[in-house]
Amino acid sequence: MPYDKKIAIVYKSKHGSTMKYAGWLAIKLDADLYEESDVGRWDLLKYKTIVFGGPIYNSKIYNLDYILEKYNTIKNKNIIIFCPNLGLQSHEEIIDYNFVEEEMKEKIKIFFLEGSINYNELSSVDKLLFRRLVNKKKKENKLSYEHINLEKNIDMDRSNKKSIEPILDYIMKKTFDF
Ligand SMILES: Cc1cc2nc3c(=O)[nH]c(=O)nc-3n(C[C@H](O)[C@H](O)[C@H](O)COP(=O)(O)O)c2cc1C
Repeated sequence: MPYDKKIAIVYKSKHGSTMKYAGWLAIKLDADLYEESDVGRWDLLKYKTIVFGGPIYNSKIYNLDYILEKYNTIKNKNIIIFCPNLGLQSHEEIIDYNFVEEEMKEKIKIFFLEGSINYNELSSVDKLLFRRLVNKKKKENKLSYEHINLEKNIDMDRSNKKSIEPILDYIMKKTFDF
């Protein structure tokens, strides 16, 4: 009888960093890996743990609706969301901005990961939106020393394989009860 995997990793990435993290997680956890458009509500029912990766774009978890619209069907499972980002908002701000319902805030475990940006590969719309966001943060005095390169449109890759370790520990404990 084929061995059924217990963990699904589903991701939606615009420029690749979320896809990279999803791949690292899937290898370490021996999980099934899906791009969001390739897996539907009913396919997810066979898993014990569902991990969704969505980067932060303008304070929003990219394509979070994918999980929210299935929440009632999958709420008895372990649900984990990981969000690559560049630290332009606090974690609390992001959570409050994206989740209205207290039940979801309690039930869904969220991890934030360091993302990356390749300025020259952004579409002209994304370049404009990103510039606007960085300028707004600068005006509000919310840019830290590490963000200095963003002001100069310099590429930044802060993704790091070691940072997935707390996520791996959490998922292993939840899925295999140890
Ligand atoms: C238009 C745009 C908006 C962004 N908005 C935010 C933001 O609000 N907060 C943040 O911390 N990072 C923000 N980022 C950075 C992304 O979260 C980061 O580049 C992430 O790694 C992208 O993931 P992806 O490569 O999987 O698409 C933004 C990037 C772009 C291009």
